[in-house]
Amino acid sequence: MAKPVEVVVIGAGSRGAGAYAPYALRHPDQVRIVGVADPDPIRRRRMAEAHDLADEQCFVSWEEMVAAGQLGDGAIVATQDQMHVEPAIAAMEAGYHVLLEKPMAHTLEGSVQLVQAAERTGRILQICHVLRYAPFWRKLHEILESDAIGEIVTVEHRENVAYWHMAHSFVRGNWRNKGLSSPMILAKCCHDMDVLVWNLKSPVKRLSSVGSLMQYRAASVGPHIPLRCTDGCPIEAECPFSAIAIYVDYERTFPAARQQLIRAGHDPETPPSWPFSIISPDTSRAGRLKAIETGPYGRCVYHCDNDVVDHQTVLMELESGASVTMVMHGHSNQEHRSMRYDGTKGTLRAVAIEPGQIEINIHGGATEVVTVDTRTVGHGGGDEGIMADFVRVLRGEIEPLTAARVSLESHLLAFAAEDARLSGQVIAMADYRAQAEALASQVR
Ligand SMILES: NC(=O)c1ccc[n+]([C@@H]2O[C@H](COP(=O)([O-])OP(=O)(O)OC[C@H]3O[C@@H](n4cnc5c(N)ncnc54)[C@H](O)[C@@H]3O)[C@@H](O)[C@H]2O)c1
Repeated sequence: MAKPVEVVVIGAGSRGAGAYAPYALRHPDQVRIVGVADPDPIRRRRMAEAHDLADEQCFVSWEEMVAAGQLGDGAIVATQDQMHVEPAIAAMEAGYHVLLEKPMAHTLEGSVQLVQAAERTGRILQICHVLRYAPFWRKLHEILESDAIGEIVTVEHRENVAYWHMAHSFVRGNWRNKGLSSPMILAKCCHDMDVLVWNLKSPVKRLSSVGSLMQYRAASVGPHIPLRCTDGCPIEAECPFSAIAIYVDYERTFPAARQQLIRAGHDPETPPSWPFSIISPDTSRAGRLKAIETGPYGRCVYHCDNDVVDHQTVLMELESGASVTMVMHGHSNQEHRSMRYDGTKGTLRAVAIEPGQIEINIHGGATEVVTVDTRTVGHGGGDEGIMADFVRVLRGEIEPLTAARVSLESHLLAFAAEDARLSGQVIAMADYRAQAEALASQVR
């Protein structure tokens, strides 16, 4: 049997330590974690304990780690959005094949530079477009590939972000502000763009976009609303965005959560998982309360430093002639994606929720309903699937499904959508792609 591949983790946060590294514990025959880089001493220690790492395998930064020479076959780069390009290029130059979180970069030129660096160093750069590795999205792709509904003429794709997820990540949290992270259409929807690119095959010819931040801003409420939910807010009890309702008395927002935690063998008074684990390393009731009284996640959603949009629509015309609309909004009752594909032979409707459902109606004929279990944790099984794939890539058994050159297109579409939204222009994608390559060459 092949010996396990060896991988280092750069950025041991929610994704690096929480989504990917645990795969090594479940599959020690396939992969071993042999190093960690993270400035946070608690996160470093947790990784060291979980993966039995010695002091010399733990580094306070990616710079220190790459300076120590190559420690393994692969590197998982899971730092925050604006810290992807430098560590990923440095890791490739040090000899690692890299699994890089999305968005591959927060700028257009950074994204192209990454592709160029992978091609220059001859290293594999695989992007964490995890949906492609999840059973639901694989099934949808397989059905469309089978030509069941014929040539695709129109697509309506919706990314329905739940109101509490919007508040958590895109109003109070890490992806709230474009200057600090990325535009919403990139941060949230590069996955959606990637699925569309994968399923539709024909390149986008031109696109336009509209959208704005409508709700989560000071103008939506009167001056009597305090800066924090815990500061005696007069509407706290009925506010769906109350930090008390989301993080402390969490059954107000997640009615089934207590039983789910008990079934999973966890203490419901100390929920260990996302989103609670993000607000504080101490997820006890007292720890959660303290976090919202003092930290960013207790801020009133109408009084944050957020500027990313809470809704955006992108209209795309493909080279094939097909037209596509993609809608993203942060006002959904439930977190899910939904879509409708109309082809020359039939219609397909799909809902990526628990359980995922794909309904195929052939013109004048039968209706078939395919149900896909999406309950597997971590993006419907996508986090597990991409790690399994990365191991096989490192073993030289397969080419990555989401290599950097492939994933570049979803990022270009997202950057173009943001430019189109801000300028009101229709973007011709052939010119846009050519400009991106030229720009990256200039700043290299
Ligand atoms: N694929 C997906 O579906 C998906 C889902 C969520 C987030 N993401 C992306 O994953 C990335 C990471 O998100 P997260 O929630 O895990 O972030 P996080 O903040 O929890 O983790 C980032 C880690 O990087 C560490 N770090 C900072 N500077 C460093 C340095 N110089 N060297 C090494 N480590 C350093 C931080 O201390 C932190 O622990 C983001 O780009 C995010 O957009 C992807």
